[in-house]
Amino acid sequence: MGRLENKVIVITGAGMGLGLATAVEAAKQGARLSLVDYNAEALAKAVKTIKESTPDTAVITLVADVSDETKVKEYVNKTLEAYGTIDGFYNNAGIEGKQASIETYDLEIFKKVIDINLMGVYYGLRYVIPVMKKNNYGRIVNVASVGGIRGVMNQTPYVASKHAVSGMTKNAALEYSRYGITTNAIAPGAILTPMVAEAFKQVNPADPKAAETEYAQANPSKRLGQPEEVAKVVVFLLSEDASYVSGQTIAIDGGESNSYGNV
Ligand SMILES: NC(=O)c1ccc[n+]([C@@H]2O[C@H](COP(=O)([O-])OP(=O)(O)OC[C@H]3O[C@@H](n4cnc5c(N)ncnc54)[C@H](O)[C@@H]3O)[C@@H](O)[C@H]2O)c1
Repeated sequence: MGRLENKVIVITGAGMGLGLATAVEAAKQGARLSLVDYNAEALAKAVKTIKESTPDTAVITLVADVSDETKVKEYVNKTLEAYGTIDGFYNNAGIEGKQASIETYDLEIFKKVIDINLMGVYYGLRYVIPVMKKNNYGRIVNVASVGGIRGVMNQTPYVASKHAVSGMTKNAALEYSRYGITTNAIAPGAILTPMVAEAFKQVNPADPKAAETEYAQANPSKRLGQPEEVAKVVVFLLSEDASYVSGQTIAIDGGESNSYGNV
């Protein structure tokens, strides 16, 4: 029996990267999936990818921008229409914004990062929690970042939004653990997804691979992480096994956030 046998799991930002990797792993563990993304094409491809390893997985796709409260209500309601309940919520959709100093950061992009990474995560909590509260059961995994526990050069709105995710995670745990709802956050380091590939292009447009190699040298594991390595931890946190872990921000970063000086 899989770790998520028959559980209904909602995943935002499921079209690619960490969301997709978790969808694939959750399907292998027996979950029924509700996949949310604002990129309809990516969602369609994601379903194909999932069906390659688990053809019988129940899956619905919902096109929604998580920064739009109405759309968040809608993805929750449509999931309930399809499955009648929600057991687990991977509150993952997020963007990085641009690399720029505090003085020069484009204000429109700043607000967009906050709208998606902070408000999007909050709306998700606001509308999923009442469903879980009725069931006296739920597993929530919010996506913060190492940028939610440390500063990251030239990424002020991202770092601010991810610290906020870690803070909201603590509060959700305080307010709802008594209803059998655990809330945790993950703090991935640099994991090779399309988002990170884009960041290396911005750091070194002439040679993104060189930026990636240099970045990996600062990591005690001397490599970047793979989306599947994050997915396994998330699936554990979404499972019944993680019943007494709540309010934590768990780094998945090869040890990097603990380092001081050269490694
Ligand atoms: N990859 C990493 O190294 C890393 C590290 C730390 C944190 N994270 C976080 O993990 C999460 C996923 O990142 P990723 O690397 O997989 O990114 P990605 O860009 O590869 O994939 C993100 C997915 O989310 C979707 N999305 C973005 N904004 C959305 C919105 N407003 N509404 C609905 N869907 C939206 C995109 O269409 C895309 O399919 C983000 O919150 C990111 O900040 C990633």
